[in-house]
Amino acid sequence: MSHSVRAVVARTQGEPVTIETIEVPDPGPGEVLVAVKACGVCHTDLHYREGAINDEFPFLLGHEAAGIIEEVGSDVTEVAVGDFVVLNWRAVCGQCRSCRRGRPWYCFATHNATQKMTLDGVELSPALGIGAFAEKTLVAAGQATKVDPAAPPEVAGLIGCGVMAGLGAAMNTGNVGRGDSVAVFGCGGVGDAAIAGAHLAGAHTIVAVDLDDRKLEMAREFGATHTVNSSIEDPVEAIRAVTDGNGVDVAIEAVGLPVTYQQAFNARDLAGTVVLVGVPNPEATLELPMIEVFGRGGALKSSWYGDCLPSRDFPMLIDLYLQGRLDLDRFVSETIALDEVEEAFHKMERGEVLRSVVVL
Ligand SMILES: NC(=O)c1ccc[n+]([C@@H]2O[C@H](COP(=O)([O-])OP(=O)(O)OC[C@H]3O[C@@H](n4cnc5c(N)ncnc54)[C@H](O)[C@@H]3O)[C@@H](O)[C@H]2O)c1
Ligand SMILES: [Zn+2]
Ligand SMILES: [Zn+2]
Repeated sequence: MSHSVRAVVARTQGEPVTIETIEVPDPGPGEVLVAVKACGVCHTDLHYREGAINDEFPFLLGHEAAGIIEEVGSDVTEVAVGDFVVLNWRAVCGQCRSCRRGRPWYCFATHNATQKMTLDGVELSPALGIGAFAEKTLVAAGQATKVDPAAPPEVAGLIGCGVMAGLGAAMNTGNVGRGDSVAVFGCGGVGDAAIAGAHLAGAHTIVAVDLDDRKLEMAREFGATHTVNSSIEDPVEAIRAVTDGNGVDVAIEAVGLPVTYQQAFNARDLAGTVVLVGVPNPEATLELPMIEVFGRGGALKSSWYGDCLPSRDFPMLIDLYLQGRLDLDRFVSETIALDEVEEAFHKMERGEVLRSVVVL
């Protein structure tokens, strides 16, 4: 049997998304059916709609979600019917060469549901293997992580992508620690989460860089100690000016553009770390002075999903939220209905929101 549910689909590159009735199969072995309660609108959903990820249209969008397990397939032991879960898009396999070497957060063989959700008989490509702008979705059991149900779904779901990516870019990939100086380029949901993560980890200088003064104001609320509007000021000089001329220990790029990557590269101190968490378009290329790559030492890293381990990190972050130590409510700019996702993309493009969250 399958379930007919309402969902947000991107049928054609660059065209507005539409609400469709899709078919979601009953869970097979290793799969779970999730009644979605909330799903945030992430810039990656817009990248999909624009054809900037791949051209496997139609896409079932949405991937930053929390919900309730409604059915489990045979042999599922990790979660049970009724569990409150946050969905993740990197279910680790436990067996690939990276998992076997004790680095499951880099897992090279993450997996999704085996069965396909469909629209008029056509297979849908779920965004990041999730597809949660839908009343129900089908995922692999390892993509559902049980967390404390005391957290409201519109907040909990954010852990499933942007907040985890940003926090993890600072805390896991960048390894920000007490007394570090940090710069974050791009202060959307991901960049602000990186700022919150740097703050939580004890950074003493946190410079927020964006083109939009409204975003910079929000960045201060998450813990930025300095802000730079890079449409007016050179961010590299501004960052040097507040770090005794040295640059920062960790420079985090949360936009996905060559120009901001170069700024991050040039704004770091000797032996500093650049973390790329923004997702570049496939055509983007990067030119860097090689002598500086060598001469500055340090590390140029990319952050897949904040190098997180959902089973370890999601419950911990929800607990920090419930203890009042991580302000996740501040990321929720508005709650919206399923049919307001297209408008939410425009609000995101106009810089009006950090996160619009669909509530079901
Ligand atoms: N690596 C991962 O695992 C991961 C996970 C989620 C999202 N992402 C990516 O992170 C990026 C940010 O996502 P988001 O949801 O926060 O997007 P967003 O649109 O909410 O935020 C982007 C911010 O960058 C700013 N910006 C744009 N151009 C800029 C420039 N030239 N200089 C400075 N600031 C600039 C915008 O004003 C905006 O505030 C996207 O590329 C998204 O795909 C990556
Ligand atoms: Zn996302
Ligand atoms: Zn693996």
